[in-house]
Amino acid sequence: MPEENQARHVAIIMDGNGRWAKRRGLPRAMGHKRGVEAVRKLVRSLEGTGIECLTLYAFSTENWKRPEEEVSDLMNLMRSFIRSDLEEFVANGVRLKIVGDWRALDPDIVAMLEDALERTAGGTRTVAVALNYGAQQEIAAAARAAAEEGEITPEAIERHLFTADLPPVDLLIRTSGEVRLSNFLLWQMAYAEMIFVDTLWPDFGPEDLRKALDVFAKRERRYGGR
Ligand code: IPE
Ligand code: IPE
Ligand code: MG
Repeated sequence: MPEENQARHVAIIMDGNGRWAKRRGLPRAMGHKRGVEAVRKLVRSLEGTGIECLTLYAFSTENWKRPEEEVSDLMNLMRSFIRSDLEEFVANGVRLKIVGDWRALDPDIVAMLEDALERTAGGTRTVAVALNYGAQQEIAAAARAAAEEGEITPEAIERHLFTADLPPVDLLIRTSGEVRLSNFLLWQMAYAEMIFVDTLWPDFGPEDLRKALDVFAKRERRYGGR
């Protein structure tokens, strides 16, 4: 496979946990729990895909609008995921990165994340988790920072994005049949290829990722040229 057809940075909007649970007559929390299991399997399958960075949308700035109970279920899942999977990340050379205003989360989660970031800092493959993330807020803050330094150019804005150290997004995947971006990586996806699948997130597995990478490899990217 030629180098240019290889996705280095894949971003995923993991959607459909609620519907997955509803279809089975289960509480939404069960859908989120199975969603975490899908994340675990996917991260384990990255070896050999050529993906250098996987960015996962876990909690948006708009998700605070959900009922308190669901928000708290999601935060508890974050806590238990770090507890159960951090060692595996370290062992497998996964570098954890968090994008979004994660320092505004509960202090104990902030502390856990700080520890997790430190312990995985030596990893070579990046798994970036978008937590309390909103692209419009990110771009506005980056523009503000660029203005303080001098000129507001695309390059200056880019240097202040959470993703400044990551390659541009090559491929966006959204599950669950919704065809929208929901305030995710708007700047970084300027020239991303996009794939929308009907699969609900808890059912999305490593084979589905491989399939998406195959579709991506056949796409012709032009970047405005001819
Ligand atoms: C995605 O699943 C997980 C988060 C947004 C945290 P949803 O909870 O949005 O599931 P649906 O869209 O209601 O099915
Ligand atoms: C996007 O999904 C956010 C995450 C997957 C974390 P939502 O389910 O919140 O998006 P909308 O509300 O359908 O646009
Ligand atoms: Mg949803």
